[in-house]
Amino acid sequence: MKTIIEPFRIKSVEPIRMTTREQRERILREAHFNLFLVPAQDVLIDLLTDSGTGAMSSEQWAGIMRGDESYAGATSFFRFQERITELTGFDHVLPTHQGRASERILFELVGGPGKVVPNNAHFDTTRANVEHSGARAVDLPIPEAADPANRHPFKGNMDVAALRRLITEVGAERIPLVMVTITNNSGGGQPVSLENLRAVKAVCREHGLPLFLDACRFSENAYFIKRREPGMADRSIREIVHEVFALADGVTISAKKDGLVNIGGLLLLRDEKLLHAASNLLILTEGFITYGGLAGRDLEAMAQGFEEVVQEDYLAYRIRSVEYLGEKLTALGIPIVQPPGGHAIYIDAAALCPRIPAHQFPGQAVVCALYRVGGIRSVEIGSVMFGAAPPSTARTSESVSPGAVRPRLELVRLAMPRRVYTQSHIDYVIEAAAEVFAQRNALRGLRMTYEPPVLRHFTARFAELEPGA
Ligand code: F0G
Repeated sequence: MKTIIEPFRIKSVEPIRMTTREQRERILREAHFNLFLVPAQDVLIDLLTDSGTGAMSSEQWAGIMRGDESYAGATSFFRFQERITELTGFDHVLPTHQGRASERILFELVGGPGKVVPNNAHFDTTRANVEHSGARAVDLPIPEAADPANRHPFKGNMDVAALRRLITEVGAERIPLVMVTITNNSGGGQPVSLENLRAVKAVCREHGLPLFLDACRFSENAYFIKRREPGMADRSIREIVHEVFALADGVTISAKKDGLVNIGGLLLLRDEKLLHAASNLLILTEGFITYGGLAGRDLEAMAQGFEEVVQEDYLAYRIRSVEYLGEKLTALGIPIVQPPGGHAIYIDAAALCPRIPAHQFPGQAVVCALYRVGGIRSVEIGSVMFGAAPPSTARTSESVSPGAVRPRLELVRLAMPRRVYTQSHIDYVIEAAAEVFAQRNALRGLRMTYEPPVLRHFTARFAELEPGA
């Protein structure tokens, strides 16, 4: 059969509240043209993030009822630990409440002033935690990642030659670990090949450096390896996942993505000394080592979620849904980051609206248009999100004036929650995008009327400019 179906039936439904265009016009104004300020009930299709927004299975809900809420040594913890060890090969599993909690514990222990942390591309919380410790975060993507139209199959790869240069430049003793993010979220949800991971590992070995993975989307990454990497087609996802984790000395995971849960995270470590220190910090700030800031029931949901996410019919449906959206938008002439990534489609807003300059936020104009037309919530990843970033993020950015930094790309991310929307929802998004495309030359730029001091995209306010302003 050619049709790939959602490999599940729907047992519990959540109504979507329909809105009219007039209502959305009013809601958008009341939210000062910032979709983070729109109440979720006023959104028809919510593509703000794929993080913690997935639907759980009946088995996960059954696990929720089974949750053992003992403070120490809960049965749920041991079940969770066993499943994670089986999947990843790591014996030491620390639960945390979400990805950034794992990052905070890790970088508090290995970061610090004078240290340098390389990554293919830091996700923003990872970068923030590295920098919070006083260390410098350096992105080393392959050059192809900078070109949205380039269809490199593993555009998330790390530039191995650049890693060698960095080590020579700063000295291995200043690098506490090398991190690779799979898939690369900041770079368009692009996968990292097994070959690249092996090459990075070889460099790490030469210099005695530990390799860490930010593995939020490890299963989606493994599926791309199976589909795109020579010699991998006949291997199971579990085998590939195992080999990827076997290369790592440590892992941080936000289970809100490929853990198929609404909350949860992991920190996996091999080094006993680091594990000991991390366990103490976990107890200090998250909770005892057998619950880490979660309820026992959350551990049950994670244990089951990590099982379901490596099933190939799930992954086939998952990756195909994102690819389907990408193909249809491309066919309409909408420029997107190619090829489609694992969890989201990124519209190239600068290419879509060349008349709106970066300081008038072309991405935000597209975000507002998608909401007006279809009640769709997306997120700008461009001058709104990174425009006021500190100069330390200049590696992925281009300085436009002293103190002001402009990102290289003006993107709009349509992130796909897992197991939530059906093909007709996606067809609706495509129809709305087609209308936005037809209006692209009439879209209005924006002016920021309120700029908060940090992470400005969450609470910034805007006003729309007159056409041609
Ligand atoms: N690393 C990556 C690659 C991520 O995408 C995220 C979260 C985190 C770490 C942090 O995890 O949110 O559980 O603390 N990404 C979400 C997103 C927020 O929308 O892309 P967290």
